Amino acid sequence: MTLAASPVIEIKPVTPPDVPAIAALAREIWQATYPGIITQEQIDFMLEQRYGHERLYDDLEDAHKWLDQVFADGRRIGFAFSEISKGEFKLDKLYIHPDMQRQGVGGRLIAHVAERAKKLGYPCVVLAVNKRNEKAIASYRKYGFTVREAIVDDIGGGFVMDDYIMEKKL
Ligand SMILES: CC(C)(COP(=O)(O)OP(=O)(O)OC[C@H]1O[C@@H](n2cnc3c(N)ncnc32)[C@H](O)[C@@H]1OP(=O)(O)O)[C@@H](O)C(=O)NCCC(=O)NCCS
Repeated sequence: MTLAASPVIEIKPVTPPDVPAIAALAREIWQATYPGIITQEQIDFMLEQRYGHERLYDDLEDAHKWLDQVFADGRRIGFAFSEISKGEFKLDKLYIHPDMQRQGVGGRLIAHVAERAKKLGYPCVVLAVNKRNEKAIASYRKYGFTVREAIVDDIGGGFVMDDYIMEKKL
């Protein structure tokens, strides 16, 4: 019997020509993740708000934001966006394609982002996660995040984010 070789994982910065592929990947992963957690209307609203092409081009110009993408054997399978927000270092987005989840790639991206925060002198990494997104919460706990507080945040369009704020001390 032969065992499948582990894929070669590479983390690279997102560049402007990557934007359409990142937006499409976000939609694919969101559709596999959020039905049952938030409504389809809220998924569409948040995808447009956060992954509209113009929004992503603006994010790439922002000196306080870092957009990383990850490849497995050359195939784009996920991304992690981090930023300085309200004086803290935030992991703002972390998404891995469903057929590549639970193979340690999310952990690799968390370590990558945590290293950046540490180099910049921040004491912790913070993030917001939907209270019902149990798989993601389990994954964040595995990598050292704990719940700091529960929030309900108005994001416009009649929608709210019902989240836990989690933090990982560095
Ligand atoms: C959450 C996410 C980023 C984690 O990345 P990942 O590469 O799957 O995670 P890792 O392989 O590094 O870590 C695996 C841990 O995550 C949790 N986890 C991930 N997928 C899971 C699943 N389908 N069922 C249960 N636990 C899961 C477990 O704690 C697991 O640890 P274990 O395998 O030892 O039990 C990824 O699963 C994902 O993109 N999910 C959908 C999108 C999402 O919810 N993103 C977070 C938004 S805040």
